[in-house]
Amino acid sequence: MVRHAVVVGAFVVAFVSAGASPVLPWMDTSLSPDARASLVVQQLTQDEKFQLVHGYYGGNIGGIQHIPEDAIPDLPNSAGYILGIKRLGIPALKETDAGLGIANHRHMRASDTATALPSGLANAATWNLDLAYSLGTVLGREARDKGLNVVLGGAMNLTREPRGGRSFEYAGEDPLLAGVMVGEQVRGTQAQGVVSTVKHYALNSQETARTSLSANIKWAAARESDLLAFEIAIERSHPGAVMCSYNRINSTYGCENSYLLTKVLKQDWGFPGWVMSDWGAVHSTVAAANAGLDQESAFLADSTDFFGEPLKKAVADGSVSQARLDDMAHRVLRSAFAAGVIDNPPQKKPTDLKAHAGIVQHAAEQGIVLLKNEGLLPLAATAKRIAVIGGHADLGVMSGGGSSQVIPIGSTPETEIPVGGPAFKFPGLGWVRQPAMVFDPPAPLVEIRRLAPKAKVQFDDGKDIERAAKLARASDIVIVFADQWMSEARDVPSLSLPGDQNELIAAIAAANPHTIVVLETGGPVLMPWLDAVPSVIEAWYSGNRGGTAIANILFGKINPSGRLPVTFPAAEEQLAHPKIIGEGTMSNPYAPGTVPPPLDGDYFEGANIGYRWFDLKNQKPLFSFGHGLSYTQFSYAALETSGGKALSVRFTLTNTGKRTGWETAQVYAVPPSADGKAVRRLVGWAKVELKPGETRQVSVTAELRTLASFSETANAWQLAAGAYQVSIGASSQDLKLNAMVNMDAVALKP
Ligand code: BGC
Repeated sequence: MVRHAVVVGAFVVAFVSAGASPVLPWMDTSLSPDARASLVVQQLTQDEKFQLVHGYYGGNIGGIQHIPEDAIPDLPNSAGYILGIKRLGIPALKETDAGLGIANHRHMRASDTATALPSGLANAATWNLDLAYSLGTVLGREARDKGLNVVLGGAMNLTREPRGGRSFEYAGEDPLLAGVMVGEQVRGTQAQGVVSTVKHYALNSQETARTSLSANIKWAAARESDLLAFEIAIERSHPGAVMCSYNRINSTYGCENSYLLTKVLKQDWGFPGWVMSDWGAVHSTVAAANAGLDQESAFLADSTDFFGEPLKKAVADGSVSQARLDDMAHRVLRSAFAAGVIDNPPQKKPTDLKAHAGIVQHAAEQGIVLLKNEGLLPLAATAKRIAVIGGHADLGVMSGGGSSQVIPIGSTPETEIPVGGPAFKFPGLGWVRQPAMVFDPPAPLVEIRRLAPKAKVQFDDGKDIERAAKLARASDIVIVFADQWMSEARDVPSLSLPGDQNELIAAIAAANPHTIVVLETGGPVLMPWLDAVPSVIEAWYSGNRGGTAIANILFGKINPSGRLPVTFPAAEEQLAHPKIIGEGTMSNPYAPGTVPPPLDGDYFEGANIGYRWFDLKNQKPLFSFGHGLSYTQFSYAALETSGGKALSVRFTLTNTGKRTGWETAQVYAVPPSADGKAVRRLVGWAKVELKPGETRQVSVTAELRTLASFSETANAWQLAAGAYQVSIGASSQDLKLNAMVNMDAVALKP
């Protein structure tokens, strides 16, 4: 009951009763997030507006970021922090990295562990939308339960450079697969009442020279590839924020690129949320603000405090308009309202970790790809002597390094192996720990022993090849694990497994023909020993239940169903860029003092990334995009198509084998082209579980934008009229059914 009212600013605020909290008009949940944000913006002082667009590190950083005293106890020791506005009921924004679990990079929060998800590539390899959504819910819930309200997730730069140090964080080379899978994950995260980003916008394809490289590409080609992935993910998930990238795109930095931030993102796609910078990615005040950057993250990471005093000056002298500043603040607030972090702020509480373990196990099991199997798998329960060799299989499964690093549930000092030498002194910060390779428990060795209780399972770390080969000779079955550590800020030098792991595998295979290789890699690798090895599994970085998932697949408790989201080349010469652009120019934000010179990268391959490049050049990869085997077999029949203004297909799938299994039926199409240079594109897929002998009819409606060209002049997608070749396949090169379909000319607005 309203007893009296007072005036706050120009606003009348009603009090329910004397002494009770005011009923703030913007807390009326029947209003839209935009209406609520507008009400708040009207109340903000000029200083409060600046406060909303200016970020701090999430920790106190030796006291050098001059954060107001009363905020210090509230700092979450995570990636970032935006001051709240208490008098208006606006909470601080507590930002955490959380692509693959709630990150705790270099133990920022002592003893804080979280559920480690399978890598982004492993998630994409499930081709399972429901699982991607569920993984997103794990991120959102664990963020909430740790009191954090902004998740810096949704990493999705297409794999243009398979040696890229962050390939493991992303979702592969195809815009449709990446957009859909990341979109579903972000949707799952935000449904828990936290904001999520998608990042890094855009074309941040490699770590080498990542702060100085200009990704040069025709805008239409960018729209048809990397930007299409963002477009799809954003329209599916409505992320509260988009993080702009370190690199330059067509000569202009990502965080001051008005074409990308304003024209494409905000105007064409109608993105209502805010653009936050990557940490250290801002290079200007006026140019960035006017290009569409809404918030400078952790300003200390930048060379100067661009959105602090300089922005105040710029607004005062009119070089950035008041309307633009109001828009920046509005965007932050409307996303906070939309996600629910203002109505329902996260409270710290214990997480249901058991439920989350179940989800990540399920995802790991569906993301692991059986690359080759000449009869060895699933393992017979009769093997008496099993050798497990290499790949730190006694510790856990490999995870990737950098800001996304999770300290997994069950971690111990032994599950971390320091890399890169001693700690170094960061000016102003003091001593910073070098990263470590972090292994996620449980160890595959333990899980293999659990499933083979009657066998003698012996482990050799593989460091002495002869010793390992001796064990292999004395065993019935050998499981060799090989791992490759990838990390943000450093690309891997080549697609070869590091160290002498190739020699190890070759020696083991020569010693015992019953050898299975399990790869734990961040992305594709070369396999010079492939012909000598009957069975190969790509387990990626498989997260906190990866060890269990690998064992379940080896012993046939789970029928593998992962499909490659990236092409595995047969040689690096097959790549569009046989050498990493700017090879050797490492730009490592963790090693200050290395400022690389500007570099131009010519992405002449345009939208023909990955399998499209291989098709264009008529090259045979080692394993093609979409490939993955099962312990059962499937047959495809009865293709029906329908064209015109929309493209859809129907066909039947039958499980012709003896086990229940999942098939991922992929639909590809080739548009008509005068020069014959159009290549096959993934336009849709269906992942279906079938019992032995079961037949199911499957329908797929094609995503037309993957077939259309983007016209800059018409500012629209244009689908050419004509005959399209449509194929249904078990991979981009294993096509089972084909048809020609006539399509009308269709124009689609972005
Ligand atoms: C990464 C971002 C991350 C940020 C905050 C940067 O180094 O590129 O992905 O969100 O740090 O930790």
